[in-house]
Amino acid sequence: MLLRPEDLPQVANEMMNMLHTEELEVFNRFHDAIVAKDIEKIDEIFPEILFDVEDHFSTEEQMMEAQGYGFYQMHKNDHDTMRKKLAKFHMRWEKLKSPTELQNFLENDFKQWIKLHISKWDSEAALHLNAAG
Ligand SMILES: [Fe+2]
Ligand SMILES: [Fe+2]
Repeated sequence: MLLRPEDLPQVANEMMNMLHTEELEVFNRFHDAIVAKDIEKIDEIFPEILFDVEDHFSTEEQMMEAQGYGFYQMHKNDHDTMRKKLAKFHMRWEKLKSPTELQNFLENDFKQWIKLHISKWDSEAALHLNAAG
């Protein structure tokens, strides 16, 4: 298991919490397939990962933009950094089919990133979005 539910901080916006819970579920399935070095399963789940992350990021961005949220661009920049990494690792996966590379990325980068991103950016945005109601 990559992330336990208690690893992800709850924020003051239920839509965002729901997106995070969904993400946790998909990433844990992805991680299981990676640890098992199940190439077919990884091939199957990778598009789901890309779709789910895009859904998560763009939903948050639309909510922030609609409210004229002041830190929109900084928050989006942090999403964009992760979008680029995922696109890069997907390209490398298509060529190399290396579960080890993906495992290192998930365990040493994505896992810390998502916890920090939620506690730093999403928590702040959630407070503002709720206040703007
Ligand atoms: Fe988020
Ligand atoms: Fe975010």
